[in-house]
Parts: sequence; structure tokens; C-alpha cells
Amino acid sequence: MSAGEALWWQSGVIYQIYPRSFKDSNADGIGDLAGIIEKLDYINWLGVGAIWLSPFYPSPMADFGYDISNYIDVDPIFGNLADFDRLVEMAHARNIKVLVDFVPNHTSDEHPWFQESRASRDNPKHDWYIWHDPKPDGGPPNNWLSNFGGSAWELDPVRQQYYLHLFDVKQPDLNWRNPAVQAAMYDVVRFWFDRGVDGLRIDVVYLLFKDEELRDNPLDPKWEPGDPVPPQQIRQYTEDLPEMDGVIQELRKLADQYHERVLIGEIWLPYERLVRYYGEDLGGLHLPFNFQLILLTDWKAQKVKDLVESYEASLPEGAWPNWVLGNHDNTRLVTRVGPVQARVAQMLLLTLRGTPTCYYGDELGMHDVKIPPELAADPQEKGSPGFGRDPERTPMQWDSSPNAGFCPARVTPWLPVAADYELYNVQTQQADPTSMLALVRKLMELRQQTPALNRGEYRPLAAVPADCFVYLRELAGQRYLVALNFSDQAQALALPQMGPGQVVVSTHLDREGPLDTSNFQLRGAEGLVIAL
Ligand code: GLC
Repeated sequence: MSAGEALWWQSGVIYQIYPRSFKDSNADGIGDLAGIIEKLDYINWLGVGAIWLSPFYPSPMADFGYDISNYIDVDPIFGNLADFDRLVEMAHARNIKVLVDFVPNHTSDEHPWFQESRASRDNPKHDWYIWHDPKPDGGPPNNWLSNFGGSAWELDPVRQQYYLHLFDVKQPDLNWRNPAVQAAMYDVVRFWFDRGVDGLRIDVVYLLFKDEELRDNPLDPKWEPGDPVPPQQIRQYTEDLPEMDGVIQELRKLADQYHERVLIGEIWLPYERLVRYYGEDLGGLHLPFNFQLILLTDWKAQKVKDLVESYEASLPEGAWPNWVLGNHDNTRLVTRVGPVQARVAQMLLLTLRGTPTCYYGDELGMHDVKIPPELAADPQEKGSPGFGRDPERTPMQWDSSPNAGFCPARVTPWLPVAADYELYNVQTQQADPTSMLALVRKLMELRQQTPALNRGEYRPLAAVPADCFVYLRELAGQRYLVALNFSDQAQALALPQMGPGQVVVSTHLDREGPLDTSNFQLRGAEGLVIAL
């Protein structure tokens, strides 16, 4: 593959922005589109290829925007469509693509479609959602559980029927078996593509279809009281149904009518089931999100290596890989692996084969913030105490001023700012040549400029210390060695077959230059990118 052949979504890094938490431009304690515009120069400086915006559409905010009451507008909290257009224009002027979140599985219960659907059993939209009569005893139609805890069914007093909500009670599931629903949602996709967005991150796309017979889900024998609620059942009848395929093909056909649009799917499935979403003859999603690094609970070299191997082995011919280290639904990277290994993790993310997705603030080493119960906002926290997602959604830390520069000092941000923001913020780290931010930026730049790292082959090396993961990235004679030490102890490596090397980046950012690959050391928790 020559330098010119990769598409933008293969060569660039995706940066996820949670709009509520990025930058508040109008002093209401909540981030907004104008705030993102203000920070486009930072995003450009960081070196990302695309931003993905979590939902900014009109919403009662029961699930902070994942409960949408109008798919084709902007919630006044975040701005308006003119702001959005300006954002796209200004991002594009900096060669940054813009991806939006598309939430097809459910609307808000305040969406006019649901208002109409719930009005009577014979209204024109009566079957736009999943309605069912109560069981003879008055109970819900089956045992399906909401991801936020409790039954996934809610009895509607007007229709005297239950509606399905796989998430919050204010997020009724659409009936994707209804062609009218499909048509309406495809119109939404066209609306945003016509407005210039470069791609969609499709929310829980693997949940769109549910068993037509509404059979009970089996219980998961591995689940124990105290575990988070969603794995309590094996979601045999509520996820990953084959009926999905037709819809994904349609979405892809739609995307292909535009120039270089990308479809990314949120899919929490093991590799063998995940890769099916690339579609037959790859006519499906371009990037079914690969979340296995987020899910990994044991940050060990061998575990990560096994994971990369099994992913690479599972990819169908022609499928483009991707990696995600963090997002708005999961404990932050630094909290999962610690601040020291987080640097190794960033080097891994940015040197593996496949498109990396970086969650805002992870480039600074932002960690989860403990939220006092009285300030809890997330519906998941209410249904599954202790498993809420507020801790990873706290305001971006821009500088050392009060509220970390997210909003003015006199304003209370919607979630508290991390107490140590004075150490971990953009301004401080921009001034420190060895900061996490400096490392991430350097790795992004290197990846962008180096075809072998960007889209070369991946080849793991055997015969290295057990605590190390070492691999080659190669393209047309260009060769890079990545050596990562997952332990706190120094590790000695001898790779004489590699020939002379040049250290291009160390995670410690304190060494560069010639390296004897036949005999070298990685310091504790050091990673090196070595040009061969
Ligand atoms: C996805 C989103 C999550 C949301 C849920 C329901 O998992 O990432 O934040 O709560 O879908 O829309």
C-alpha cells in the first residue's frame, strides 16, 4: 500500500468528545458546541484526524442526550444548527473530520413519535415501538432486563400495554421490524450526511432487533449479586440477531452514496461475533468498535499480546482493524491500569495496526473522579449503584484556574472537576516536555508521518521477556520495532536479528538516538518505538 492509499478513517486518530464536559462557552456549567469550536486549535495541535461528538440533539437528558426527542436539531443547551454548521466548517478547515452519534435503538419517551405511539392502540404509529400486552397476572411480557437495572418493560397507563426499554424507562426501544421506522431513521442519516458530517458512531447497533416471539433470556450462571446488572442474563434474545444484517447493509448503501463516509458501530461482543458486522464482502460497518482493551481486567503483556493476536486472526480479508482505550461508559484508562502503565497503553494504542480512538482527557492522564451520591447524575448509577458512569465524564481540564478553565469560577460545573486538576491540565502539560500530553502528541505525530506505523503489517516477536510485548510494524522496507514493558522492573532484551536501531520515542520522553538491538534494556514501565 503506498502512502496515498489509506482512507482518512484508516490513517487518522479518532478523538471522542463528550460535549457536556468539554468546554462551556456560555457559563451554564455545561459544555457546548461553541466551546468545542473554541478548542479546535487544541484538537488540531494534538494531531487527531477526526472528532466524534456524543449526542448534542434535543433531549430531556434522562441519559444525557442518548434519549433523543428530535434527531435533526441541536439542544439549546449545546447551541443550535448554525453552531453545528460552523463547527463542521471550522473543523474541515483544519482538516479534521466530524463524526456524530446516531442513536437508532431508542428515542426519548418525549419524542413526538412515542407520544403518538402511546396515545392509543390504533394510532398510525402504534407499532413504531415494541408494545405488548401484560401477562395474565398483569406482569411484564417476559424476563428481559434493562441495562440500567430492573425490568426492561414499563406499563403504559393509557394503552394498558407494556413498552420495551433496554435502557432507561425514558428510552423506549423503536420497532426496527417496521419499515416505516427504518425509513424515518434513514432520513435522519441523510440529514446529517447532507450537512457535511463525515461519519456516524452508531449507538448499540447490535441491539436493534429483538426476538419476535419475546422468549425469555437465560440467566447467566456466572453472575453474582453485587456484579453490574447487564450481565445478569445472557442476552440471547435481545442482542446480535441475524435480522440486523439487512439494516446494516442499507446503512452502508446509504453511506456509500456520499464521499468517504464512515460507519462505526458500538458493539459489545467477542471477536468471533464482532467481525460479522464488517458484513459479507465487507458491505457492512467500516469499523465495528473493538472494545477488548477496555474490557481487559488484567494488564499483563501476555494478555494484551493474546488479545491482539486473536483480533488479528479473526479479521476477515480486507477488514480494517481499530482499537479503543476509553469512552464515556467505562472507567478511565489511568484508573484501570495506573498512571505509569497508562503511558505504555497509549504507546500501544498509537502503534498497533488499526484506527485508534482516544477519549477526551485520556491524553492528559485524567482519572475517574469519585462523585458524592448526592451529585450522582447518571441513570445507571441509580439502577446499579457503584457502577455509574459519572466518574469518567467529569469536565475536561484546560488550565490551573478554578474549574480547570472548563467554566468560569463563579459557575458550578455539571459534574465536579478532579481535585488534582492543577497538575493534570492542558496548559501545564503543554509546558512540560515529558508530560503524558507531550507523549500522546508525539506518538500521534509519529503515527501520522510514518507509513509503517500507520498502516504497515503487524508482526509480534517471540522470545522476549514474559513482561514485555514486542512487535514489528513494516511497510515497503520501512521497519519499526515497538517494545513495551508491562512491569515495574527493568527488562533486558536481545534481538540481534533486528540490526541497528534508533530510538524515536520512549514513554519517558528522555531518550532518543542509536540503540544496539542485540542487547538493550527497557526501564520499568518503559516503552520504546525504535526505527530499524
Ligand atoms: C450506549 C451509550 C451509552 C448509553 C446507551 C443507551 O451504550 O454509549 O452512553 O447510555 O447506549 O443509549
